[in-house]
Parts: sequence; structure tokens; C-alpha cells
Amino acid sequence: MKPPVRVTEIAAMRKLSREARAAGKSIGLVPTMGALHAGHLSLLGAAREQNGFVAASIFLNPAQFAPGEDYKKYPRPLEKDLGLCAEAGVDAVFTPAAEEMYAKGVVMFIEPGLLADQLEGLSRPGHFRGVATVVAKLFNIVEPDRAYFGRKDAQQLAVIRQLVRDFDFGVEIVDCPTVREADGLAVSSRNACLSPKERQAAAGLYQALQAGQQLAAKGERRATAIAAAMAEQIVEEPLAELDYAAVVDPETFEDLEDLDRPALAALAVRIGKTRLIDNAMVELPRGRAKNAKK
Ligand code: PAJ
Repeated sequence: MKPPVRVTEIAAMRKLSREARAAGKSIGLVPTMGALHAGHLSLLGAAREQNGFVAASIFLNPAQFAPGEDYKKYPRPLEKDLGLCAEAGVDAVFTPAAEEMYAKGVVMFIEPGLLADQLEGLSRPGHFRGVATVVAKLFNIVEPDRAYFGRKDAQQLAVIRQLVRDFDFGVEIVDCPTVREADGLAVSSRNACLSPKERQAAAGLYQALQAGQQLAAKGERRATAIAAAMAEQIVEEPLAELDYAAVVDPETFEDLEDLDRPALAALAVRIGKTRLIDNAMVELPRGRAKNAKK
């Protein structure tokens, strides 16, 4: 298989993309921050299946990290990432320097509005405007037909769908299921920061989400009761510190009172110095949702 072309300049990336389009190929984009793992590889696999030309971006975006977050410590195994992109059949890997993406610093931001004021947005002020801004830039640079994002970061996915709607990007957003370890822990670059004991404790996130799903499956229709049950389960684990446990509308991320529609259970938990997030859909058994308010 031909190794991917590596480009660091915006103009060169745009040129490659336009050449592929001129050759009649559809273009799939997979934005990442590197430290690639099975979750990223599933996005690359989907993009490879569905497009004639696949671009992956590896850019650790300073604009989405607040001071004091893990920007400096974030792993940067570039050579390994390039090898994984080659194995995944990627055509072009875009690895710009921060100075290329933000030549004069970040002057203008895209503000995602209310959606970014919930959950992750409250815990990480400014995070989603950094994400929306860089993703808009990547869309303008690569001009993809399709772009691939993981459900693991469900609120990010919702912000990006809104970005596409509100700014009329001609790109189809493809969402891919969360890839998990054998014990259910969502695969994440941050898992590597966990000690063996913390790693064991981290499986508790998935267990708490499952407990929430099971409660709903038994007919519990109070979203607050489901969120409380998940929180209780996290609190029982001495190494875990709960940031939030919530049951929200999967589009607006506003708290729900009743499970009168499909809902998203979302968790953020600090284990040692590492902050982990996860989510899962929760639904009442068939036929019960309509009557939820009775
Ligand atoms: P990063 O954390 O590198 O993730 C890149 C993509 O991989 C995101 O769409 C994320 O949801 C997806 N992903 C991560 N873990 C996954 C898993 N276990 N299963 C499925 N998909 C998974 O998210 C970002 O980078 C950045 O915010 C970015 C969108 C690149 C903008 O800078």
C-alpha cells in the first residue's frame, strides 16, 4: 500500500484535496489530535470504505485547551501515528504546526452558543469554541465531502453538527460508535495516563452507564433518578471523583426530567490526575416513552 503523503502547509493540503476532487474522488476527512488508537482507526476505516481520497489531520489544537489542562503533557507519538495512518490506507496526513494554523494567534473564534454551555462546556470553558473554530478551519482547508467523528465525544459531535447547519458547510458528518476495551472502558489517549489501579477503577464509568441503561430498561422514567444512580455508583469507587453524571437531550444537551424521548446518559470522572468522559443512550422499554408524563 502506498504510504500517505505528509503535508504541513495549508496551501499544500488544499492542493492535494483539489487534485483528488478533480480526479473524480470523494474526500473523507478524519480530524484527530494524534496519539492514534483503535477509536481513531475505526474512523479511518469508515472513511477509507466510503471515499476515494482519505485525509487525516493530526493537530494538537491549543485553542481548545484551557490554561492548566493537559496540552503540554498530551502524548505526541508522531512517527507511530504516521505508521498507523499508512496501515489504515490514508492518502494524506495533514500535520500543521500551531504557527501554520494560527499565524497571528487565534484572533477570531466561532462561538457555539447554548450547546457549549452545558456539561463539558461548563467543566471546560472555551473548549468547544476552540473545537468549532479548528474544525471549521479544517473543513475550509480540506473541503471534504464527509467528515468522521466519534460518539465517544457526543457533545463535540452535537457542536459540529450545529456548526455545519449554522454555517452551511457542504459536508456530511458521519458519526462512528464508541470503541471500547474488553471491560467496557472507552478507548482514549488519556487511558495511558492511568496507573494499573486507576485503570481498573476506570471501568466503573461504563458500569455506571450500564446501570443507568438497566434502570431505564426496567421502566424508571425519572431522568434525575437515573443520573443519581450513576453518580452513586461512581462515588462508591474511592479512586474516582465525579465531575458530572447527567441525563440529557442528545441534541441540546439540556437536562431532561422525564425519559419521554431517547436520552443520553453522560459522565465525566476524574481518576487521579486523569479526566475521563463517556456516554450511552438510555431508553425506556418500547411503548413506555410516549406515556412518560402520565
Ligand atoms: P481526538 O481526541 O484525537 O479524537 C479524534 C476523533 O476520534 C474524535 O471524533 C473522537 O470522538 C474520536 N474518538 C476518540 N476516542 C474514540 C473511541 N473510543 N471510539 C470512537 N471514536 C473515538 O476529538 C478531538 O481529537 C478534537 O477535539 C478534534 C475533533 C480533532 C478537534 O481538534
